[in-house]
Parts: sequence; C-alpha cells; structure tokens
Amino acid sequence: MRTETGQIFHLEDYAPADFVLERVDLTFELDPKDTKVEARLIFHRRDGVDPARPLVLDGDELTMTGLMLDQVDIPANDHDVTPQSLTLRNLPESAPFEVTIVTQIAPESNTKLMGLYRTNGVYCTQCEAEGFRRITYFPDRPDVLAVYTVNIIADKATTPLLLSNGNYLGGAGMGDGRHFAAWFDPHPKPSYLFALVAGDLGVVEDSFTTASGREVALKIYVEHGKEPRAAYAMDALKRSMRWDEEVFGREYDLDIFMIVAVSDFNMGAMENKGLNVFNDKYVLADPETATDQDYANIEAIIAHEYFHNWTGNRITCRDWFQLCLKEGLTVYRDHEFSADQRSRAVKRIAEVRHLKAEQFPEDAGPLAHPVRPDTYREINNFYTTTVYEKGSEVTRMIATLLGPDLFKRGMDLYFERHDGQAVTIEDFVACFAEVSGRDLSQFSLWYTQAGTPLVTASGTYDAARQAFTLSLEQMVPPTPGQPTKEPMHIPLRVGLLLEDGSEAKAQRIDGIEATGDVLHLTERSQTVTFTGIASRPVVSLNRGFSAPINLHFEQPPADLAHVALHESDLFARWQAVNAIAMPNLVAGTAAVAAGRPVECDATLIEALVAAAGDAGLEPAFRAQTLALPSEADIAREIGRDTDPDAIHEARRQVVAAVARAGHAVFARLVDEMRADGPFTPDAQSAGRRALRNAALGYRVAAEEDPAPVADAFAAADNMTDRLQALTLLCHRFPEAAETGAALDAFRRRFETDALVIDKWLSVQASTPGAGALERVRGLMGDGLFNANNPNRVRALIGTFAFSNPTGFNRADGEGYRFLAAQILDIDGRNPQLAARILTSLRSWRALEETRASHARAALRQIAQAPRLSPDVSDIVERILKG
Ligand code: TRP
Ligand code: ZN
Repeated sequence: MRTETGQIFHLEDYAPADFVLERVDLTFELDPKDTKVEARLIFHRRDGVDPARPLVLDGDELTMTGLMLDQVDIPANDHDVTPQSLTLRNLPESAPFEVTIVTQIAPESNTKLMGLYRTNGVYCTQCEAEGFRRITYFPDRPDVLAVYTVNIIADKATTPLLLSNGNYLGGAGMGDGRHFAAWFDPHPKPSYLFALVAGDLGVVEDSFTTASGREVALKIYVEHGKEPRAAYAMDALKRSMRWDEEVFGREYDLDIFMIVAVSDFNMGAMENKGLNVFNDKYVLADPETATDQDYANIEAIIAHEYFHNWTGNRITCRDWFQLCLKEGLTVYRDHEFSADQRSRAVKRIAEVRHLKAEQFPEDAGPLAHPVRPDTYREINNFYTTTVYEKGSEVTRMIATLLGPDLFKRGMDLYFERHDGQAVTIEDFVACFAEVSGRDLSQFSLWYTQAGTPLVTASGTYDAARQAFTLSLEQMVPPTPGQPTKEPMHIPLRVGLLLEDGSEAKAQRIDGIEATGDVLHLTERSQTVTFTGIASRPVVSLNRGFSAPINLHFEQPPADLAHVALHESDLFARWQAVNAIAMPNLVAGTAAVAAGRPVECDATLIEALVAAAGDAGLEPAFRAQTLALPSEADIAREIGRDTDPDAIHEARRQVVAAVARAGHAVFARLVDEMRADGPFTPDAQSAGRRALRNAALGYRVAAEEDPAPVADAFAAADNMTDRLQALTLLCHRFPEAAETGAALDAFRRRFETDALVIDKWLSVQASTPGAGALERVRGLMGDGLFNANNPNRVRALIGTFAFSNPTGFNRADGEGYRFLAAQILDIDGRNPQLAARILTSLRSWRALEETRASHARAALRQIAQAPRLSPDVSDIVERILKG
C-alpha cells in the first residue's frame, strides 16, 4: 500500500506565532477567472523573538504577482514563495512593518468550495478551517486576531451587492462600469471568520433592538424570488437573539447582522463575523417545500451560527485542537434554545437518537478520537459528531454536575475573563472549577479519552433493612492510540420508583457522592446504598441521558414497563420503551438468521400501544416512542458479525406484529390527528403530524394495498405529509404502479426546485433492498442530478451509503465498489465532501465476513488510487488501520 507522507500536527507542539498581526487591509477586484487580491498586513515581531527568525505565511494553491515591504519591492533573496507558503527574511527587529501581497485567484474554477468561489453566479468565501490561505498568504491560524478593512470592486451590473464583515463604510460607482464598497470590522478576529459575498441577490429586511437599546439591521440575502421563503429563518434569528440575551446574557455587538443563503456549500452554515453564510437548505422554507424537520433544522442552525458570535467569535480557539471549545459549547447552546422553543423532552429524545446513531458508531470504530483530539493530519476531518455532539454532551454534564446557578456563574466568568481571546479547553473548564470549588481534573478525561464508557449496573433490595443497593461498574473501551483508559467522572441521574409509581425518597445515600438525583460515579467499581426504601423499587437509570454512555442493566420487561408508565422524566419513559424493544429486535435478528419465526414480547406491544393511545401525553412524544430503534441501532447493539438483511427482516416483522395488535388505535390516530386548520410549522402542529404519520406507517405495515397511502400522498397539503406518504410508498411498495406515479408527479411538480428534488433523490436512494444500487445509478444520469453540487451528492450518494443498510451493504459488495468509484470521482473536485461520504464505511469491521471482505477490498482500492487528497487518504488509512 502507498504510504502517506503528509504532515501530522500535535497539540503538544503549540507555540504562539513569532509575529503579531496588527491590521489587515484587503482589496478585491472580482473577476470569475482572474480576481486580484491585494493584502496589506501590518506586523511587528513579538517581544523576545529572535530577530533572525523569518516570517512564514501560509498559502494553498496561490499565485503571487506582487510583494512589497513598506511599499518597496522585496528583493528575491529576501523571500521564498511557493503555492503553499511565503517566507520573508531581513525584517525589522521590533518596529512595525507593512507587507503588501498581491495574488491572482480564479473563483470560478475553485471546486473545493474553500477560499473564494462562485456559486450560482455569486462570489462567496468559506475560510474555516484553513480556507483563507487560498485567498492570500497569511498567518492562517485561529490565535492570530486582527482588525480588518475590506474593499470590494466588481462589475456593477452583474454584481450589485458587495458584502463583507462588520459595518458598511461606504461605496460608489467608479465610472468604468465597476463600483466599490468598503467594510470595517472593529472586532479583532482570526482569518477563518473572514467573509466576502458579492452578486445579485434578493433581500429580506428586519430589525432587532437589543436589551441595551442598540438597533441592529437584520438582512437575509437569498436568490431573487425566494424572499418569502426566508421569513421563518428571520423569525428564528430574532428569537435566537432574544434568547441569548435572556438565558446567557449575551447581546449582539455590530449595527448589522447578515445571512446569505448559497446553493453550493460543504457544510450546514458558517458563523463569519456579522455575515453568516448558509447552505440554502438551512434558510429556505415554506409549507409547500419544507418538512417539519426542515423547519426544526433551520431554527437550530440559525441559532447555532448566531450563538457563535460569542462562543467562537468573541472568544475563539487557540488552535484547531480546541475546536470543541466553540462547537461543543455552541451545540449545547442551540440544543437548549430548541428545548426552550419546543418540547424539552421531545428535543432531548431527538438529540439522543442522533447521538447514538452518529456519534456512538464513530466512537466505537476506527475513526474514534477524543472530543479534543491531540493529533490530526487534516483538520477538515475533525468537524465530527464527536467534536460537536459529544462535545455538547460534555458541556451538558458540566451543567449537570454544577447545577444551573453555578453553571451560569461559570459561563459568566468565561465570557468576562476571555472576551477577545483565543483560548483552550483548560481555560474553559477552569472557570467552572473556580466558581464551584470542584476539582474537575477527573471530569476533564471526557475531553481527552475517546470511546463510549460502558456502565454495568445491578441492584438488590433488602426488605429487612429497607435498603436498596446498586452496584455500578464502568469500563472505557480501547480506541485507536488509546489502549488503556482511566475511570471517568460520570454523572448518573437516577430515580427509584415504588409500586404505585411514586418516587422513593431515600433517608440516606451511602457509598457514592450524590447531589440531588445525580450519582457521581468516579471509580471503576462502586456500590451505593439507599436506605429508608419501604418496598422493592424499580430503578430508572441515566435519566435525561445525563451521561453519554452505554448502559448494561438487565431489568425485567415488567420493570421497564413500570418506568415507561410512571417516570416523571419523559425521556426516561422513552428510554424504557426502547430498552424493552431492543432485546426483541436482537433476538428477532437471530431468529431470522436461523430460519425461525420472529417472536415479539407482549410487554413491548402493550407499552407501544399504550403510549400511542395515551391522550395525556403530547403527540410528538408519542410519535417518538412509536419509532422503534432503527436498523443501524440494532446493528450497533449486536456489535459484530452483523447481517443487515436479517436485521431488516426482523425489524419488519416486529413492526408488523405491533401494527396488527394496535390496528384500532392506529386507525383512530390517523383520523384524530388530522390537521384542524391551515398548516403552521409550530412544534405542536408538527407533533400531531408526526404522530399521524407514525400511525399511518403502522397501518401500512399491516396492509398489502398501497391505495390508502397513495390517497394520503394525493391529499397532502404540506411537504411533511407528502414526503412521508412518498417514503411509505417507496419503502413498502417499491414496485407498485402507485409508487411510480407518485414519484413522477412529485418530480414534475418540483423539478425547478433543487432542494425539493434532493428529497426525491433521497427517498429513492434509501429504498431498501438489493435493487437500490441500480436505482441510484439511474438517478445519477437524471438531468436533475448534479455531481458538482454537494447537496445533490449528499442527497443521492450520501443517503445511499449512510441510510440504506440493505441496499448499500449488498452481499455481493457492489455497493462498496460503487462507493469507491464515486469517492475517487468526487475527490478530484471536492476532497472535503469525498472524505465525509467515505466515513459511511467506518463500521465495516462489524459486518459479517463476506461483506467485510468486500468492504475491505473497496477501501484498499481507494487507498491505492493515485493523487488522493489528504482528506480522503487520512480517512481511508484510519478506517483500514483501526
Ligand atoms: N463552523 C461551522 C459551524 O459549525 C462549520 C463549518 C462550516 C465548516 N463550513 C465549514 C467547517 C467548512 C469546515 C469546513 O457552524
Ligand atoms: Zn458551529
């Protein structure tokens, strides 16, 4: 195999930059093929730095056409330049000096979508993490903060709108058909937060008055004609701004806040100071085109990027190893925001589902890494669910350990002490240690030890002593580079439920520190005794998912059903129903593999049917309960030697059994949960739609006739219902004439709307069975597919690889070979996108032998290809090795 010689970066090598950057002055003369960038950078040598040391600036595929020091050309022997770096020697010992650099770039042919590129005729930048060095030579690292002035010059007719960070200084025509605009951002920032957008776009305007009375102009820029679809995003933005004032005491700090929606974007969105750039998928919504999930995503991502203004921008990262400092914390903040705007329990269930589906497999496989990694080859590959979602869980655990008041004081201290700085996880944790007086050193292992801890629990009740004893053991599994682990500080929320459903209040808790209902598990093995418990209690462990762990606790189904019925914590009720379902699904899989019939526990059916029909519970919660563990969840639980076809069949049979038993309830719900007025995207209406669609799913599972679903498809007056009906048709009746007709009707109706076509591609790409691959191949030839657009590629190829277990994992290995060819093709244009889709193979070792060997062969084929990007070669080598 080819050996990679790419550079490896280590956390322990951190050293501050030799030169302090005082000011940045940029002038862009925009042209699709030949943009001229003039950068004037004022530096001085940091105190104590050896005067012989050169200034080394980062570049990436750059062409330099001019270079001056204090307005005088720099002689050839005083500098070295390559596309990747610019080195300057013989610089002033301590006095400030100005370096002027001219580069020429071609936004139109920038297919990596990093740096300055064109999307739909609009110039746009993406600089995180290391995109700024594709614009000019620069100290492109997050601990170099400077104040920027930006001048933009472009053709006025085609490019009327010229935007950058901060406040608008002014602009004018230039007489030659061109015009210019100048922007000034008074807040010192790292280069990754720089942004420029220029083009011809429509705008939605509003304003916001901050708590201290500052008037902020709000502008959302979208393609002409799509302005009405930005209304929900604007509403979400204003709610986010108010919430951050009320809950975290954080106000906005410029006169203007802008969001631009673009159609080619590698990720969800980007928090550039004062000028957020969004994937249009997370801005545009109306009932005709957006699902309830789309609305929820828009609300969360608008909030996320806005919240970065304080957690990320005002206080940024010292280096990229600290990425979770801004991302984990900001995800925590957007989770809390959504919980406050919607239903807290339902939001928590959705978070945990997502965490288990995405982060747990990452943590259990070859790509496992700590929330704060200490080494990387390609930083783009560390924008992971571990850094984001587990990072958020770690923040949540700090809040759980300290309680709300101390957590708030710790956050306030963080904002006050570190405003304007580039800091580390240690700086963040120190604020909480200081306000609470708690030693958080063991807790900090959550940042440095990878792997999902496994907690094993068992309980015994001693009636004579009226004592309940809970034995707890923790084990953190080995992960790449970390063969052995220390025990962690795990906050486990626990409830003891009595027979009547009420909660037992212990007189004493011995053997373990307890604060409120939180047990502080800190040793490998610990026993806690609750005394004063009048009768045998039923335990509810890890309430609210207080710690991101795997829990091994053999509880009889009757006990779990008791929790599902009586817990005051709704999340724990949902968790209990899942704990009843999982053994059924695992046993069912074994039964299918052995050719035996699948049996389904009566307790599971009762629990599901009871939750579905309980009018005292909110519909969204009931819908979540009805959604059984996914095929991927079951595969994760089984852990090794998995057969996706057997899992699929077992789950299908369990669903069918529930469907038959609950037939009457589901039929009634489909009726009862019908909308009682025009569509609104609020959480309550969305919950009713979710429950109705879940019930419809069960109805369909018990039927052989596609007609009722085809009717539901035709009758739908919003995208949530329409897409759910289309999904049921495709997944349950892939060959039916009704399904083909519905797909055609959907395509015809939405063919000019790329974001809706993504849904059409995804439904087909996720249709189970060996036929999926041919369908995907066919769709790649469809005129509506575009291999250059990341959203289209994710919708078709990404969905197939990540969300179609039976189709992708075809036993003959064709799915993997297809993926390998696609990865190599995409890698030539957009390495970031290719590397991300390739992570769909991260759990290949858990597959049964035949599939695993096909997957390995496909991975080797990628690894051996010539001219791999660092992004793909890093992922493929780690996946093969781990
Ligand atoms: N900072 C962005 C966020 O989470 C993430 C991001 C957007 C990003 N675009 C990117 C990361 C491109 C790497 C590359 O809000
Ligand atoms: Zn973020």
